[in-house]
Amino acid sequence: MEKKEQLYEGKAKKVFATDDPDLLIVQYKDDATAFNGLKKGTIAGKGVINNQMSNRLMAMLESEGVPTHFVQELSQRETLVKRVSIVPLEVIVRNIAAGSFSKHYGVEEGMVFDKPTIEFSYKNDALGDPLLNTRHALALRVVTEAEIETIKAYSFRINELLQAFWKSCGVTLVDFKLEFGRLSDGTIVLADEISPDTCRLWDSKTHEKLDKDRFRRDLGGVEEAYAEIMKRLEAKLGG
Ligand code: TMP
Repeated sequence: MEKKEQLYEGKAKKVFATDDPDLLIVQYKDDATAFNGLKKGTIAGKGVINNQMSNRLMAMLESEGVPTHFVQELSQRETLVKRVSIVPLEVIVRNIAAGSFSKHYGVEEGMVFDKPTIEFSYKNDALGDPLLNTRHALALRVVTEAEIETIKAYSFRINELLQAFWKSCGVTLVDFKLEFGRLSDGTIVLADEISPDTCRLWDSKTHEKLDKDRFRRDLGGVEEAYAEIMKRLEAKLGG
């Protein structure tokens, strides 16, 4: 597969064309941002970990019947994916209060929910990714009714599968963000990444944070946390 021109550079990844119009190459960077790019830094080795972790988790989800963009890992930082047009929604599923949920509703981080929550924000950096509900998304014509129902169903299924997987690694899945895309035939598939950048992952016993909150909140031990969470995954899935 020949890597051709760069199509896009995001905060954490670059995207390249290939000689197949239906396939792209994503390349993971070590760059880290938070608070809509206000905070900038580098997490050494993050690109390799996020690439490998996201691919392993997406392969697991595929084997459980959730379609994803994942095709093939090409190198430590590069992966071949199906070309999608991204649905401009960030889908956030939560099992435990943390982050913006705790802030919005005035509840302590760590409050365990009876049932998971789901929320959407409109992917638009200039507007600061504002929250929206299903009817807002329909009004903006960014998804159809059928698509958003599919996205919700996949998101809750992904939550069940990821929660069970991380539990088996001694890790609690607190919350996470997903992005979906449409293949050229309109099929909705999971896209973007699943990594410590996009999930809150706490050690089940100590509740130690093993994710990007260590960077967002200047807690130190950022690289060590990424390495530790990858080690837990590899202990379960093989190196
Ligand atoms: P929040 O509590 O800040 O809303 O974050 C919820 C989850 O979504 C958390 O696991 C981090 C992830 N997330 C992203 O992946 N990208 C983002 O831009 C934001 C704000 C959160």
